[in-house]
Amino acid sequence: MKTERDIPSSLDLVSEIKRLRTEMNAVILAHYYQDGEIQDIADFVGDSLELSRKAAATDADVIVFCGVRFMADVAKILSPKKLVLLPDMNAGCSLEDSCKPEPFKKFREAHPDHTALTYINSSIEVKAHSDVIVTSANAEAIIRQIPESQPILFSPDKYLGAYLAKKTGRKNMLMWDGTCIVHEQFSEKALVQLIIRHPEAHVIAHPECPEFLLRHAEYIGSTSGIIKFAEERPGQSFIVLTEPGILHVMKKRSPGSTFYDVPGTADAACANCNNCPFMKMNTLEKLYLCMVNRAPVIEVEEGIRLKAKQSLDRMLDMSKGVKGLTAPSPTVAS
Ligand code: 13P
Ligand code: SF4
Repeated sequence: MKTERDIPSSLDLVSEIKRLRTEMNAVILAHYYQDGEIQDIADFVGDSLELSRKAAATDADVIVFCGVRFMADVAKILSPKKLVLLPDMNAGCSLEDSCKPEPFKKFREAHPDHTALTYINSSIEVKAHSDVIVTSANAEAIIRQIPESQPILFSPDKYLGAYLAKKTGRKNMLMWDGTCIVHEQFSEKALVQLIIRHPEAHVIAHPECPEFLLRHAEYIGSTSGIIKFAEERPGQSFIVLTEPGILHVMKKRSPGSTFYDVPGTADAACANCNNCPFMKMNTLEKLYLCMVNRAPVIEVEEGIRLKAKQSLDRMLDMSKGVKGLTAPSPTVAS
């Protein structure tokens, strides 16, 4: 197994990764939160679900997922015959970590009359024990299809759940107590300072942010929704309340616009505290090594995969025709 010490300093990583991609018949996926250099080498850049759907539609033998573990699991659920590689197996997610399968099963058992709606940022086991999966792009539309009288368990993001309950007027949603460590810690003080300094800027936010931040936003939506909102307003300014990796693609798609990211609360001590530490575990070196080593590999037990696929399929059925599920299409790297 090669390690970073085996990479000669003279090696042109980008050319080598491209060569390996052809040799392995691989497709490289990058989530919008990846560093620009990874986005630029990827075949598709997109949100979690869209990337897996795009990869499943290719005839590639190998999927290299530059994102986090739950996203690579979804790729494996949809493409069981393909080899799925994740450059760093420790690239998790605080939402997934907050919701372990055993306590989740107990939560369900304690509320047998509730429908379990689970955010895609969750483990494959939790997905397998859920009724319907949702993304931030389709959750609202899916909730609106569930009869008003039917109580809902929403896991694992309590802020996304609270936002959706408010938006849909649902009173009977019980939330799991999970949060995204990135979206919950943006500094409201820094946000307000940015708004005062740039009063013309649109404030756009991901619904994983808590209410005290969302109340400042003109638009709230998924990563794809945020990008689309800016694309539709060329030449304008935007204060973006989500992981700043997204600015790379926003600047590419809206070259005449101005974007401001919002620092984290610990900004004095840490310049990158608004970065997702899990997403940023992926580097060009690790991407290269996982292709050379054909590891780490995503492996899932077939019974769990099929159960998780049922909840994902329900989501896909219920989100047919939902605006924003597939738009904008992931970009193909040049
Ligand atoms: P999207 O599904 O909107 O891309 O978001 C994924 C995520 O992890 C947000 O923190
Ligand atoms: Fe998870 Fe938050 Fe990172 Fe998204 S930004 S992968 S929700 S920890």
